[in-house]
Amino acid sequence: MRLAAIQFAPALHDLHATLGALQPHLDAACEADLIVLPELCNSGYNLPDRPTALAAAEPVAASAFLDHLAAFCAQHHCEIVTGFCEREREALYNSAVLVDANGPVETYRKLHLFMNEKDFFTPGDRGLPVVERPYGRVGMQVCFDWAFPEAWRALAMQGADIIAHPSNLVLPGRCQRAIPIHAMLNRVFIITGNRIGTEGALTFTGQSIIASPAGEVLAEAAQDNACVITAVIDPNAAHDKMLTPRNHAFDDRRADVYGSAGAS
Ligand code: ACM
Repeated sequence: MRLAAIQFAPALHDLHATLGALQPHLDAACEADLIVLPELCNSGYNLPDRPTALAAAEPVAASAFLDHLAAFCAQHHCEIVTGFCEREREALYNSAVLVDANGPVETYRKLHLFMNEKDFFTPGDRGLPVVERPYGRVGMQVCFDWAFPEAWRALAMQGADIIAHPSNLVLPGRCQRAIPIHAMLNRVFIITGNRIGTEGALTFTGQSIIASPAGEVLAEAAQDNACVITAVIDPNAAHDKMLTPRNHAFDDRRADVYGSAGAS
């Protein structure tokens, strides 16, 4: 199967402009089976206040943005994981949504909110879903979740083969160094779809990345240009959890010693 990440600059609370900027990249990625878009792709990141954020957000079940992605999936027989500014009544969530030809399939709400996100968003309350797809099992993380190895471990131990990671990274190079390590230690594929551009004082760091269960970087974008990166993979490679011929990534864990740090 083919994985893709789209790196571009969503427009701040302007869905029409975002869809215009996104479409050429979707068209360029249409051969992929699974495409990953940046975090908060329907709203932009640096929202000035809560009323603006609420106005830019959409419910998963009634979203012009997700409808657009589903129509693309129907046309090109693919699936998309997108970052999504989600509204549920008066609550806002920084979510990732897996979309197929019929619409939203699964929603993950970001667990670890970064900096001022804490002023706008409610922390995730839907756990760490792993969804069975025809090509393999998919888990999701959003941006700053990268700094919490427990979440990657929990997804891998629930059977995720591929972890889609919509991002709006601002700390240069840190997550991009961690992703191949998370992939290697959990023996999974990871696709980080990061954004570029500047919003106010924030400059986003690009370098979207696709990493393999061996910790290889299969594809990586530059820091500052809009582009599509792709990699052809065998998702079954994520079923081999041996770190060495005698060391299993999960079975050799010493959960009896880790205390509260050890996900069981
Ligand atoms: C981030 O979590 N958007 C840095």
